[in-house]
Amino acid sequence: MTSLSTTAPGVRQTDFRFRCIACGHLADHASQNFRCAQCGDLLEITYPHWKETADELKSKWRQRRVSQSAIDLSGVWRFRELLPALENYDQAITLREGNTPLYELPQCARITGIPRLLAKHQGMNPTGSFKDAGMTVAATFARRAGFRWVACASTGNTSASMAAYAARGVLRSLVLVPEGKISWSKLSQALDYGAVTCQLRTDFDGCLKLLQELVLRAPIYQLNSINPFRLEGQKTLALELLEQLDWQPPDHIIVPGGNLGNSSAIGKALLEMRDLGLISRLPKLSVIQAEGANALVRTLREAAGKNLISVHAETRASAIRIGNPASWKKAVHILEATRGACEQVSEIEIAQAKAEIGAEGIGCEPASAVTLAGLKKLVQQGFVKREESVVLVLTGNLLKDPDFTMEFHRGDLFKNTRDEAASAALNPLRRPPIVLNATLDAVIGALNEAEKSSPGPER
Ligand code: F0G
Repeated sequence: MTSLSTTAPGVRQTDFRFRCIACGHLADHASQNFRCAQCGDLLEITYPHWKETADELKSKWRQRRVSQSAIDLSGVWRFRELLPALENYDQAITLREGNTPLYELPQCARITGIPRLLAKHQGMNPTGSFKDAGMTVAATFARRAGFRWVACASTGNTSASMAAYAARGVLRSLVLVPEGKISWSKLSQALDYGAVTCQLRTDFDGCLKLLQELVLRAPIYQLNSINPFRLEGQKTLALELLEQLDWQPPDHIIVPGGNLGNSSAIGKALLEMRDLGLISRLPKLSVIQAEGANALVRTLREAAGKNLISVHAETRASAIRIGNPASWKKAVHILEATRGACEQVSEIEIAQAKAEIGAEGIGCEPASAVTLAGLKKLVQQGFVKREESVVLVLTGNLLKDPDFTMEFHRGDLFKNTRDEAASAALNPLRRPPIVLNATLDAVIGALNEAEKSSPGPER
């Protein structure tokens, strides 16, 4: 089995080590399955010493915002002091990821009763999801370690991102996706970026299991979020967010939970920022899942976070249709460390929240909308208070799943499901396309009809 070494060409030896999250074993090398050689649990990357002070880091990162060099134009590598180091930053495979906007959500603020409500939109990344932040780092290290092939199992976004970064880095890529269970947009990205794309007759969990076996048999570098380099890149979402907030932490950050890599990465960043003195207190990081893919919710409620309760996952938010999340232990640790909550939301709540975010002129994919739906619940429960500030992490772009959006607006999303009757409550949010004769009268009639039926949002 090939070992991935911190001493691979171009990687400075002492910059980071792999640490097992269960037994704490430290190593300079990780095998291709990124599991601890002693106990088989997941690894994370640790840094023996950071040299700069918080003020030095903040000033360096600020200065880089006006730099035109390729590495500084990346919203990930701009924070490279907190990432595994390269000797030569020309080696980084970058598509200028990161640099994503932080939006106010005035209408959703009114709906939830939380005036200080913001959205960090990771769907504005080069391939339309948060995966790009992790992929730039992990793909770079795949190439540095000398691999020709990279691979992932995916519900769609990881594969789109991996295929793009592999193409940029002149690597070959293999995608394993569940047949018929990912959106066409995501699948088409992987095809266009040149991945060898296999649609397997199983679910995401089946694809990931097979990949784990494959990397032990073939010289293939796995780019799922089990790969700790991915999580290092994804950490920068939180660094960039805090920089955008002038290092004043929000009270809450809310993130969707699928395989639980992203929540783990954001949480790791928060703890590191606190240890470095970049922030003075920790935001509470909460994870929201779909009711039909609620492994973490059940693990916490029924097993007190001690052992994973897997589920057979089913949700129209296909990005998070995951029943056996790989990074569940990391996520439990982060929820405890930041005192965050874990909630689940129904299919109707997801569809409603997605339409409400869309009505802000921003839009996101269904999996991202669980954050707003979850916030409503956390407000009801009194966990989030009116005067507190909240940041929702929108993980994917609206254009990632047009079928969901079209079916919602046409009124077909819940047809022949047990939610069909209840979904009538969402009718005021629907804006189906109107087919008309090409006459002025017909269009004016449609305008008048729209004025009568809905007054539009408050201004
Ligand atoms: N939101 C979107 C849009 C996603 O694509 C994913 C995961 C998540 C949330 C959940 O993040 O897994 O880190 O907890 N998508 C993966 C994929 C699994 O293959 O694209 P997580």
